[in-house]
Amino acid sequence: MTVPRRRPRYSGTHPRRFEQRYKEHAAAAYPDHAQHLRAKGKTLAGTHLPVLLDEVVRALAPQPGGCFVDCTLGYGGHARALLERITAGGAPGRLIALDVDGVELPRAIARLAEFGPALTAQRLRFAGIAKALERAGVAQVDGILADLGVSSMQLDDPLRGFSVKHDGPLDLRMDDRLARNGADLVATLAEDELAELLRELADEPAAAAIARAIVAARQQAAIKTTRALADVVFAAKRISRAQWRAASVGAGRTVHPAARTFQALRVAVNDELGNLAALLKMAPLLLKPGGRFAVISFQRGEEERVAAAFADGRARGLYSELHGPLRPTAEERRSNPRSSSARLRIAVRAAGPSGA
Ligand SMILES: C[S@@+](CC[C@H](N)C(=O)[O-])C[C@H]1O[C@@H](n2cnc3c(N)ncnc32)[C@H](O)[C@@H]1O
Repeated sequence: MTVPRRRPRYSGTHPRRFEQRYKEHAAAAYPDHAQHLRAKGKTLAGTHLPVLLDEVVRALAPQPGGCFVDCTLGYGGHARALLERITAGGAPGRLIALDVDGVELPRAIARLAEFGPALTAQRLRFAGIAKALERAGVAQVDGILADLGVSSMQLDDPLRGFSVKHDGPLDLRMDDRLARNGADLVATLAEDELAELLRELADEPAAAAIARAIVAARQQAAIKTTRALADVVFAAKRISRAQWRAASVGAGRTVHPAARTFQALRVAVNDELGNLAALLKMAPLLLKPGGRFAVISFQRGEEERVAAAFADGRARGLYSELHGPLRPTAEERRSNPRSSSARLRIAVRAAGPSGA
């Protein structure tokens, strides 16, 4: 006999912690609750809302029988929209999907099982996109999508260590095969390396003070949790949690004082800019003439690299057209605040001498 699992106990009237939100984890059984949260602009625990979905579909213009790459499968929202169109009417479309997340990838594959062999999913960094196509026996594709950054599933799960708002291990790896996690970087980087990382990867104005505070704090005790790191940042910025909470209630949504520190660490741990550089270099070689490349970025460092690579590709005759940056509508930003900083850029592969 299967014994039903008890739901986690919580104090107060509302579950606050990720694992306690049993109605969200079983959204199908509680549709009213799911609708209520969505109306408040919340993403249900364990799900992810695809950003700029209509704009991505328009940009990539998927046709029945088309062959596409989704470099960042995540929850599979963009992938589903592409698969529906390329397999319409039983057409032999193909989507080659990549993700490094060994926890979420099998779930996304299961969610998209109805598309059968039209989906080939591989646990691979998108820097290895050429290898993915080779494995799939495809030379060039009609379109490539990269929706950069983390998924809501990663962000909301305290055990992944991405969120400054929940206490958990300071992990920050999208791919648990990576040798170094966030706690390792915080424990080993020199003070000037930490300061540079905070400045370069997250524009943190208090970079020097935070780096100094991290080095002083780790001499007392290793910084192993998200809360411990956030505490160090609060101290470095000379603001208490209570003061920040009071200020943020008055001002509506404000950015958490440690948000930039977490962003910088995450980008470093996952070598996000190195992966992006490799993808930007490879993509034009893997697109058919007229093929489309769409990239959604969420922060300045990524956005500048995408814009520069696209402009360079156009100057070299690799791209014939560039579009964007497109931003989410006010309605999308309201219904999904996590989309707020998204920018979509699109490049169209040239059909000329360097493009053919
Ligand atoms: C913003 S989410 C994508 C969401 C997806 N478009 C959807 O509709 O659900 C980004 C995903 O990309 C993955 N990712 C980030 N960097 C990656 C890389 N270099 N190679 C492969 N996957 C990566 C993350 O693990 C995460 O699942």
